[in-house]
Amino acid sequence: MDNATRLQYLEAMGIDVWLPGTVTAPKQAPVSDAIADNTLPEPIDSWEALQAEVAPCTLCGLCENRTQTVFGSGNKNADWLIVGEAPGQNEDRQGVPFVGKAGQLLTEILRAIDLDREQVFITNAVKCRPPDNREPKSTEVETCKAYLLRQQALIKPKIILALGHVAAQALLNTDEPIAELRGKIHTLNDTPVVVTYHPAHLLRSSLDKRKAWADLKFAMQIIKNHQR
Ligand code: URA
Repeated sequence: MDNATRLQYLEAMGIDVWLPGTVTAPKQAPVSDAIADNTLPEPIDSWEALQAEVAPCTLCGLCENRTQTVFGSGNKNADWLIVGEAPGQNEDRQGVPFVGKAGQLLTEILRAIDLDREQVFITNAVKCRPPDNREPKSTEVETCKAYLLRQQALIKPKIILALGHVAAQALLNTDEPIAELRGKIHTLNDTPVVVTYHPAHLLRSSLDKRKAWADLKFAMQIIKNHQR
C-alpha cells in the first residue's frame, strides 16, 4: 500500500497521522486498582526456553485443533507489547499473530503512530486458535497467562496495549467491560497498561474508531513520560 492510499485509509477511519509533539494527554488519568496475583515468574527464563515450551504446549484443550502455536512476533526488546485475543484461522496457518484483516488494520494503526510491526512485539492472550473462531474460555486464558507474563518479564516493555476485552480482562484480572477500562492507566507488574478496542471490532464499528485513536494518543503520551 502506498503512502497516499494509507493516508486516505486512516482519514476514513478518523485517524490523524501522528506527528511528534502533537499529542495531547487527557488532563488526569485515574490509576486502576493494582492487581495482586499477576506476579512475574521466578527465576526469569530465556526467550528460547519460553519459545521451546510454548511450541508443543498441551496445557489446555486448544492444542487439539490448532495447526501450531502462535508465540508472537516482532522485537523482543520492544517498548510496546501489544496483546490481542487469540489466533484466528490465518494466524493458525502462518504461525504469526494478526495477519488477517484485523491485522492489516493493526499494522495501519501502528504506522499512524510511526511504528512498524518490527518495532513492537505482538502476541495474544492465548497462543492457540480456538475452534470455529470462538472466544477463548476463561480457563484457557488463565492457563495461557503464565506465557504472557513470562513474555512481559523478558521483553520489559514500557507499555502494554490490550486490544479488546479478552486481552484487557486477562491482563488486569477483571471482568469490567472495555468502556470502563479505557482511558485509564492500569498497571501489570509496574508496566502501564492501556486498553482499547480490538481491531476486528473497529472493522465492524466505525463509531469506535475515533475512541481507539484517542486511546493510541493516550498511550503515546504515557510512553513519552515513562522512565524505564
Ligand atoms: N485477532 C487476534 O486477537 N489475534 C490475532 O492474532 C488475530 C486476530
